[in-house]
Amino acid sequence: MRLADFALERYFARWEFAVQHVLCASDVEGWPMGELLALADDEARAMWEGLSLGYTESTGHPLLRREISTLYESVEAEHVLVFAGAEEAIFCLMSTSLQEGNHVIVTWPGYQSLYEVARAAGATVSLHALREEDGWSLDVDRLVRSFRPETRMVVVNAPHNPTGMLPAEGEWRRLASECAAAGIRLVADEVYRFLEHDGSRTLPAGADIDERAVSIGVMSKSFAMAGLRIGWLATRDRAVLDRCARMKDYTTICSSAPSEVLALIGLRARERVLARSRSIVAANLAVLDDFFDRRSDAFTWVRPRGGSTGFPKLVPAGPAGSSADAFAARLVEETGVLLLPSTAFGSGDSHFRIGLGRTDLPEAIAKLDGALGPRA
Ligand SMILES: Cc1ncc(COP(=O)(O)O)c(C=O)c1O
Repeated sequence: MRLADFALERYFARWEFAVQHVLCASDVEGWPMGELLALADDEARAMWEGLSLGYTESTGHPLLRREISTLYESVEAEHVLVFAGAEEAIFCLMSTSLQEGNHVIVTWPGYQSLYEVARAAGATVSLHALREEDGWSLDVDRLVRSFRPETRMVVVNAPHNPTGMLPAEGEWRRLASECAAAGIRLVADEVYRFLEHDGSRTLPAGADIDERAVSIGVMSKSFAMAGLRIGWLATRDRAVLDRCARMKDYTTICSSAPSEVLALIGLRARERVLARSRSIVAANLAVLDDFFDRRSDAFTWVRPRGGSTGFPKLVPAGPAGSSADAFAARLVEETGVLLLPSTAFGSGDSHFRIGLGRTDLPEAIAKLDGALGPRA
């Protein structure tokens, strides 16, 4: 299997730990370990203190699988398979479900592995472009028109990285039933689930609305624990889980024992954990509302509806120039603030991703503002 380079990860490998402000991160500020342990109930604390560092159950710790299943309405513990992050889950799912002759439709611009692994498995991929002029919305009619007889999978990331797209519930359910009627598996990348803005409701999970659909989840984003590297697949289709478990034997075999217990603690304390993430994101969105309002000479942006990223556009001939690559390069050099240009998504050179989850955002935005110079 030959995989093209993961452009975004290569960019982060160069910059993420070399700059002062990562203003383009998609995760939420990581939980301090001490504070997380303080949230443990008696059972989880005893598990943590008595933990022995042997191999763990390949499918995931039974208590963790049970806790993950409570994020869903109709998913039981045995419908959950734990992985090293959502990334491993995507790799195992795509590489075991697809082959030459299959067609897959994936929302775009987006997280590259969602379509790159499918391509490497031999499938033909159609990218379902979200359009800025439509407010980055999911166009279910257009998506359904791109179904082909050989379409096997429709992959939707919602809330969406990088645009913040979040479909209305009715549209989401309509897409799920169109997929079911055509015998196409819906794959819902829900790693930003529970980060809906402005009172928008959490969408029903893919795995709940269709028994063949697959939901992808992770501790990294809404739960602010990327360093655990714990993710999962949830589906009532046991054949999918069985195939993925067999592939996992060749990737990580089983999860890290300390991470499983810490993930269990975080999920059991999910109200506190999610409240913290939502409050960081809401405070940052208020800063960005003000900033983009004041700097409409340099940028336009469609306010994200969910998730922890947004995708502003450079105003041509504005003070930031019209190349996102060039602006990001100048900004990081002059101020130590990192943006992610849209070229990393293969999606032109006039947008950049901004992350809503880091607590240094106000400081980073002040530096970005300074680099633009005063408004003419
Ligand atoms: C849409 C989407 N899916 C999956 C992932 C992978 O998550 P993780 O790195 O925690 O495995 C990411 C990470 O940015 C993402 O944005």
